[in-house]
Amino acid sequence: MFIQHSKVPSPLQKVLIEISINLYLRNMEQLLQKIEAYKNEMTAFKVPTAEVLEDFRIKYLGTKGIVKAVMGEMKNVPNEKKKEFGQILNAFKIFAEERFEALKATLVSGDNQTTANIDWSLPGDPIPVGTRHPLSIVRNQIVSIFKRLGFAVAEGPEIEDDWHNFTALNLPENHPARDMQDTFYLNQNPDYLLRTHTSSVQARVMEKQKPPIRIICPGRVYRNETISARAHCFFHQVEGLYVDNNVSFADLKQTLYFFVQEMFGKEAKVRFRPSYFPFTEPSAEMDISCTVCGGKGCSLCKHTGWVEILGCGMVHPKMLENFEIDPDKYTGFAFGMGIERICQLKYRINDLRLYSQNDVRFLQQFTGAV
Ligand code: DAH
Repeated sequence: MFIQHSKVPSPLQKVLIEISINLYLRNMEQLLQKIEAYKNEMTAFKVPTAEVLEDFRIKYLGTKGIVKAVMGEMKNVPNEKKKEFGQILNAFKIFAEERFEALKATLVSGDNQTTANIDWSLPGDPIPVGTRHPLSIVRNQIVSIFKRLGFAVAEGPEIEDDWHNFTALNLPENHPARDMQDTFYLNQNPDYLLRTHTSSVQARVMEKQKPPIRIICPGRVYRNETISARAHCFFHQVEGLYVDNNVSFADLKQTLYFFVQEMFGKEAKVRFRPSYFPFTEPSAEMDISCTVCGGKGCSLCKHTGWVEILGCGMVHPKMLENFEIDPDKYTGFAFGMGIERICQLKYRINDLRLYSQNDVRFLQQFTGAV
């Protein structure tokens, strides 16, 4: 049957529409109040755990959740009001989704912890702190002793050219002393090599700075050596250089004696033996009384009571001339020591390989050392 609806509703139709709209409005009023209540509930929601967050999701956003149920009311809304209520319901859905995301974010960032949740009397979680490497410990000790005497720290590159590592230090090509310091060449003509000693920093400093010069240069050096307990292809040195008016061998001795006493204690003795280095004249090697046997004789000192710790001497006039420092006006002393050696004497580490094997059983033994 075809029923034609006239455009103008009859009085009866008007009354019926009025009643149904009023009914609907009352329902909608209730629904709006409910929506407000849900929103307050959601705002008050705190998320201390992932489970509570999941409860929130199921309650509001789940397939049988409140948002779905509220959206379901759309079918009861008369056509004239659909647009208006559609917007309200949609806004509610977005509110619930945004609230969920915000709660999730606080859970991830841990901001949801309120003071009420924390038991302040619990002990803190232990944070594993690493330890300083023994070589760093000893290097810092050496540096701080010389700093007290007014020495500044200078550094230079580990990749050096021939001039700074050899020639400027009075070690010209074909000089036999070069044989003792074979290294790794990165390029030939011009020669670039891994520096064999920190003496190269002496050259770099004198190039730029004129006396008074008082520096120490800690750093890594390289040699072409077969790795064993007593030799390695890389190790560490600290170089010292002091150039000024009237610097004498007595200053050299006193400075190094002070260093040894600070490093190894007041009972440590020193002795100087004549030696040869192309960049110093006269040159010496300095021994200290054995830290293990106190000088009586043991396997560490090969039963001599003494162990060698460094090379030193008065800066060769030729070296000063190489850097346009007048040798008639200025004199200086220099020294170079191996950090591994000092470390061996302080901590009785008798295998060089231990320093670079990264074995935590070895490294942990230095926990708390400064
Ligand atoms: N450069 C030397 C070496 O590696 C150590 C050395 C000796 C440094 C005497 C010096 C010095 O400054 O005067 O064996």
